[in-house]
Parts: sequence; C-alpha cells; structure tokens
Amino acid sequence: RDSSPGYEVADLSLAPAGRHQIRLAEHEMPGLMALRAEYGASRPLAGARIAGSLHMTVQTAVLIETLTALGAEVRWASCNIFSTQDEAAAAVVVGSGTPDDPQGVPVYAWKNETLPEYWWAASKIFDFTDGSGQPVAPTMILDDGGDATLLVHRGVEFEAAGAVPPAPREGDADYSEEYTVVLDTLRADLERDPQRWTRIAEGIRGVSEETTTGVHRLYQLASRGQLLFSAINVNDAVTKSKFDNRYGIRHSLPDGINRATDVLIGGKVAVVCGYGDVGKGAAEALRGQGARVIVTEIDPICALQAAMDGYQVATLDDVAGVGDIFITTTGNKDVILARHMEAMKDKAIVGNIGHFDNEIDMAGLARIPGIERVEIKPQVHEWVFPDASENADTTATEGGERRSIIVLSEGRLLNLGNATGHPSFVMSASFTNQVLAQIELYTAEPEETPAVHVLPKALDEKVARLHLDALGAELTELSKDQAEYLDVDVAGPYKPDHYRY
Ligand code: NAI
Repeated sequence: RDSSPGYEVADLSLAPAGRHQIRLAEHEMPGLMALRAEYGASRPLAGARIAGSLHMTVQTAVLIETLTALGAEVRWASCNIFSTQDEAAAAVVVGSGTPDDPQGVPVYAWKNETLPEYWWAASKIFDFTDGSGQPVAPTMILDDGGDATLLVHRGVEFEAAGAVPPAPREGDADYSEEYTVVLDTLRADLERDPQRWTRIAEGIRGVSEETTTGVHRLYQLASRGQLLFSAINVNDAVTKSKFDNRYGIRHSLPDGINRATDVLIGGKVAVVCGYGDVGKGAAEALRGQGARVIVTEIDPICALQAAMDGYQVATLDDVAGVGDIFITTTGNKDVILARHMEAMKDKAIVGNIGHFDNEIDMAGLARIPGIERVEIKPQVHEWVFPDASENADTTATEGGERRSIIVLSEGRLLNLGNATGHPSFVMSASFTNQVLAQIELYTAEPEETPAVHVLPKALDEKVARLHLDALGAELTELSKDQAEYLDVDVAGPYKPDHYRY
C-alpha cells in the first residue's frame, strides 16, 4: 500500500485511471456540477472541515471534489471494508498533483480492509489540524451507515465514564467481532488522549446521513436524548431514497451478481427478503432479467404491495429449498439463518445488499461442523456442506457430491463488494442532497436540543429539476390559475410534506 501521514490507499499510480473515470462520472452527475457552478465563487463551505465516511468510489470522488470546490477541507474513509475503488481513492489523494507530489484530499481507504484497519481509517478522518499543526475538530460529519457518528458518540460516552467497558465474549448474545474491534480502537484512544472524542464532538455542528440504516441509528439517539449534534436525514429526501435505493439497486444488484458469478438470472427463482425501497428495486431488476421472484416481508403493507406487483409472497422457511438466488434487503439482522442455508439447493447464490453484514448469519454458517469455505475469487466464496449431518439426505447432490452454496462479499453489501455500486447519475441526486445538507449544517444556527431533520421539499424539487435536462425531460409549467386551484405556488413546492410519491 501507499501511505504517508496524509493518506493511505492501495496504489497512487492508479490515479490517472481514476481521473479518467472521474471525468466521465462528472458528465453523468449534473446535480453536483450545477452546485459547483452555482456556489463555486461564493464558497459557502469555506472554513468547514468535513469528516467523510462513505464508500470511496468514483462517484464519491466527484462528491469530495464538489465539497472542496465549495471551500471545505475534507478527510475521507470508506464505510465498508470491500467498497473502495482503489483508482478513485488514488485520484482523490493525488488531486491536481502527481503521485510523487500529491495535492489532493487525505483518504484512508483501500479495497479489502481488515476490521481493525477499517476502524483505524474511520478514526483518521477526524484528525484535522490547524495552520500550526495543532489538532482541530471537524465541523461536520458526512456519514453513510453511521459508523463515524457512532465512534464520536461512544468515544464521548466512554471518556465521560473514564473507561471503555470489556467487550462481550464470544457466545454472549451481544457478541460481535466488529464491536470488539470498535471497543479496542476506543480503548487505545482513551489511553493516548482521554479527551479526544469530547473535544471532537464539541466542534461538530452536525452530521448528514446517507442511508436508511444510519438514519435509524440517529432517530434512536435523538429519542433517547443522546444525540450530540444536529443531523440531516439525507436518505429520506425523495430524490434520495426513491431513486438511489430503488433505481440504483435496480442497476447495481444484477451488476454485482454478474461480476461475481456470471450465472444466467433468466429462468431462475430469486428470493428477495424485504420489499422496501431497496427490495422493490431488487425484485424489479431480477424480474427484468427473467427470474421468477418471490418476496418475503414482515410488514403487511409492503407484503401487499409485493403481491399487487405480481410477486409471490412467502416465508423464507417455506422457500429456502426453492430459490436459486437469495438477496437480503431488510436492514434487519438474522434474516437468512444457517438452517435456511443448509436447506438450500446445491450452488444456490446468497447475497446481501442491505447496509450491514448481520442480515445473513455468516457466523452460524461457519459454525456448522465440517463445513468448508473455498475462495473462488475475492468476495466470492463457496461454502461446502459436510457429507454427513443431521439432514444427510439434503446435503448430498444427486451425484452424491457434497452440496454447496455461493456467498457473495462475505455477507456484506454485494453491489459495492462485487461491483462498483450505483451508477453516477443516480448518485448525483443523492450527493446533491448531501452537499445541500452540508451547507445547511454549516450555515444554520446551532440547535439547543439537537434533532434529526429532513431537507425542505423545495430543495428536493431543486435536486430533481437539476437532473431533468440531462435526460431531455420537458417539465410542464403550472399556470397561475391552475396553481391557485391546487393551492400551491407556481414555483413549488407542489406536494404537501405527507405526500408519499
Ligand atoms: P426500508 O425500510 O424501505 O425496507 C426494508 C424492508 O425490509 C421493510 O419493508 C421491512 O418491513 C422489511 N423487513 C424487515 N425485517 C424483515 C425480515 N425479517 N424479513 C423480511 N422483510 C423484512 O429500507 P430500504 O431503504 O429499502 O433499505 C434497506 C437496507 O438497504 C438498509 O440497510 C439501507 O441502509 C440499505 N441500502 C443499501 C444500498 C446499497 O447500495 N447497497 C442503497 C440504499 C440502502
């Protein structure tokens, strides 16, 4: 790897390749480029220091360079161990310089990090310094999934208590390898500097959060009165969740499955767990490829939507032995369990596209006595079941061979682990919301009681508007008369806040 105190990435010589991709992505990201044109001169983020934790892809590179064009100082890590595109990370570090003399943004991210490396990088994004080299707190976090926000909140909590609690042990209900690493990271911080996270938290004006799972964590913190700074829920901008989560997945899910396995999806039975925004995009994509799609849901409204959209709705227990491809999209834990995987057909493909890796019980799978894990290639593993187990008749194939399943990205989000995530155009809408949220957090008066907010609908409509021209879409204009009849302004917003799209 290439590293210095100012960055750590896989290989800086990849920067030219990354720069070409970034240049093409800019063409597909009209929202971000429009913000550069609108705010490049006034630089509303001048003086802002943004600690970013979001998949370090080509599209994120365009986001980072938009934030710096608007005046911000930025440090970055990825929010997933597999999602970094190394050429994009290199190009962002090099910036307008050369690999020998990088002039860009400090990035700490590479594809295939270990968990300790991941949390080390998450901590590095907070290490801003002032002109004289003294540590100075970031002014904002830009988060995806809430890991950076979690570090600050837990850090402050443990510093107040003067100690980091011992990690749950393997076998305890709340044990997880990852949380043990988080605790180790914070314990080392506390020993080095007992006020690090408290000082950082005091400087932070707010966080803008990208995804459903991270937003869920923020509302939990706010409802317990524990949220330390204001938050903007970017996910629930209509131009984010109804586009990225749905149309982005519709593109990047098949991309991930294809690059990982190259299995023909047509004619197969695909089981999609969860029919929220991501599930809807996943089911549509798989049906579009000719699969017969079965949906599982726990929410009667979403289950009914799936049924009305023409999908069979069933429980996983009933269809575990029927599916050829299983995709989790729930943001929940323990959705596909070891017993489901044991019941699956030979060479069934199992993958997750929800934010965290706890949707599929990988630990339970690994605990099956005699199971073997074969690496087909990075992020594609065959799990071969033992010859004889309690259900010996289902573990052998007809030819008597040992049955196996294929697990993508070790249960982590496969569209970013096995492919390159959502395409630029849809990320332009998401990231335009992110930039507007960062400007809002930086310029608004601090709140007495920090709360979670969504962006005003006028901005949501602005984000959509910025993307229409590029698609050649012509918008009909309301007449003054019509606007009065509907009781809206000619310039919008056109819908009440409770409208669901
Ligand atoms: P959502 O809340 O709209 O949908 C999740 C659905 O799963 C809900 O309808 C819920 O009722 C259902 N569900 C919960 N537990 C279930 C269970 N045990 N079995 C079956 N269904 C269950 O959330 P959204 O926006 O669809 O996001 C889902 C996940 O995907 C989140 O973790 C989010 O952060 C992540 N995400 C991932 C992206 C990616 O690029 N991989 C992009 C956007 C979101």
